[in-house]
Amino acid sequence: MSIYKATAPGKVILFGEHAVVYGQPALAVPLLDLRATAIVESGAPGSGLAISAEDLNLQLSLAEAAAHALALTARLVLDQLAVPEPDARITVRSDIPIASGLGSGAAVSAALARALTGYLGQPLSDGDLSALVYEVEKFHHGTPSGIDNTVVCFEQPVYFVRGQAPEILRPGRPFELIVGDTGVASPTRETVSAVRKARERNRERLELIFAAIGSITDRARTAIEQGDIPYLGPLMNDNQALLRRLKVSSPELEALIAAALGAGAAGAKLSGGGGGGSMIALVEGNVDAVRNALYEAGATRVFHTVVR
Ligand code: PMV
Repeated sequence: MSIYKATAPGKVILFGEHAVVYGQPALAVPLLDLRATAIVESGAPGSGLAISAEDLNLQLSLAEAAAHALALTARLVLDQLAVPEPDARITVRSDIPIASGLGSGAAVSAALARALTGYLGQPLSDGDLSALVYEVEKFHHGTPSGIDNTVVCFEQPVYFVRGQAPEILRPGRPFELIVGDTGVASPTRETVSAVRKARERNRERLELIFAAIGSITDRARTAIEQGDIPYLGPLMNDNQALLRRLKVSSPELEALIAAALGAGAAGAKLSGGGGGGSMIALVEGNVDAVRNALYEAGATRVFHTVVR
């Protein structure tokens, strides 16, 4: 019996969420220890392709491609490789919280597509995999910028501008982040749509905010590449102030951000779509104090990651 396994990481957006939808740059990094896994095993002749998502208690067939992202991912793989439906079973599981701004949708799709293309003996390049997952992201988000699929498929820090080839970011020295999950599920589609409506009402004001976020992102890129990590904290706080003006923060996010800063984090902001979901804090040596403060302020999960 043939068997093939692949994984893909979660991610956080460091700078530039929302503004990236309107052409500004954004920076994102993979969460290499938080992963989605897909295993493909051959099935009985005539069984067709069966997909099961263990955490969601979900069983799917290819016929459900119009209604479910995992079936859609498998459909896109088979169409792209121009192969018939195999007799196989795909099992997907994930450590990444859902609807928390941590890229869980992109990661499960990337793991599934990587495992299935590998199983079929036709692995895709990271770029082709990312393009395929982007098609699935449209199903989740409507108008995704493409940053999630990019960082999840390349598994490296990226500087991303919509419609351009992503640039791999090389930190001048490693730095540490704490990620706090509010536990409030917040579909990105909703905050992206609220920002779109606000822009329709007051385009000039929103474009100024996006441009200011873009300029922070560019300064952060230089600081990261030069290893000027202390400068990142104030830039995160400035980015958060602009995200507040976009009205995508929430009381739960603000409570976690205040707790992290109070416990000595050098900077903190929401990460991803906002409205709930996750926040990130820059820490230097005070990991435990910030982690404890986040739990006390109501975080449902806290992760630590080193960006290199
Ligand atoms: O909520 P997430 O982690 O999927 O991030 C969304 C990032 C946005 O900039 C708000 C939307 C996008 O498509 O880039």
